Amino acid sequence: VLESLKGVSRGSLRIAVASTVNYFAPRLMAIFQQRHPGIGLRLDVTNRESLVQMLDSNSVDLVLMGVPPRNVEVEAEAFMDNPLVVIAPPDHPLAGERAIPLARLAEETFVMREEGSGTRQAMERFFSERGQTIRHGMQMTRNEAVKQAVRSGLGLSVVSLHTIELELETRRLVTLDVEGFPDRRQWYLVYRRGKRLSPAAGAFREFVLSEAARIALPTRVIQAV
Ligand code: PGA
Repeated sequence: VLESLKGVSRGSLRIAVASTVNYFAPRLMAIFQQRHPGIGLRLDVTNRESLVQMLDSNSVDLVLMGVPPRNVEVEAEAFMDNPLVVIAPPDHPLAGERAIPLARLAEETFVMREEGSGTRQAMERFFSERGQTIRHGMQMTRNEAVKQAVRSGLGLSVVSLHTIELELETRRLVTLDVEGFPDRRQWYLVYRRGKRLSPAAGAFREFVLSEAARIALPTRVIQAV
């Protein structure tokens, strides 16, 4: 109680997040807002490429994203796991198979996020580092579209576990047990190096670093992969 009384009570805060972070950012903001009702919050949801531009032009207080940029000077602090998983429709022949060799995926088609997506970048790096090429099928600019496409049988895909909480629960999608997956990545809180964080931004930073991991993804989802 004492902590919350001491809390920052005013100000405004502009947060930008990767489209994949959209699946848990509102949950974080709701709790933060309850504790700091006087702070005006604004959320921008976009892909990795535009986040890097926002950091570069200093037009945002804090960014939550997958891979911090190298070409812009930033502070980046990891705050939570971001496992990437292979998804398939429940009736896919590989569903339920154990330890599927990576090479077996070369026979499949993959639904891809757009160029500029952090998920896509990570997925391409994962396969190329292991000497594998995958067949690209349709390309889509939204995680929601990718999930619908996979459900409709257009191919497999690789997505962050954070995007499929509901689909796993309702068994509309399954994750495949593929060699090397889940690809263990991290989410980062990022801001321009040298930027003086406002009290509101400082409070949000502390909140994310200390509590996001507990709030963002229920344990039952993590245990499912
Ligand atoms: P994306 O970013 O929404 O641009 O794919 C997510 C990530 O960087 O992991």
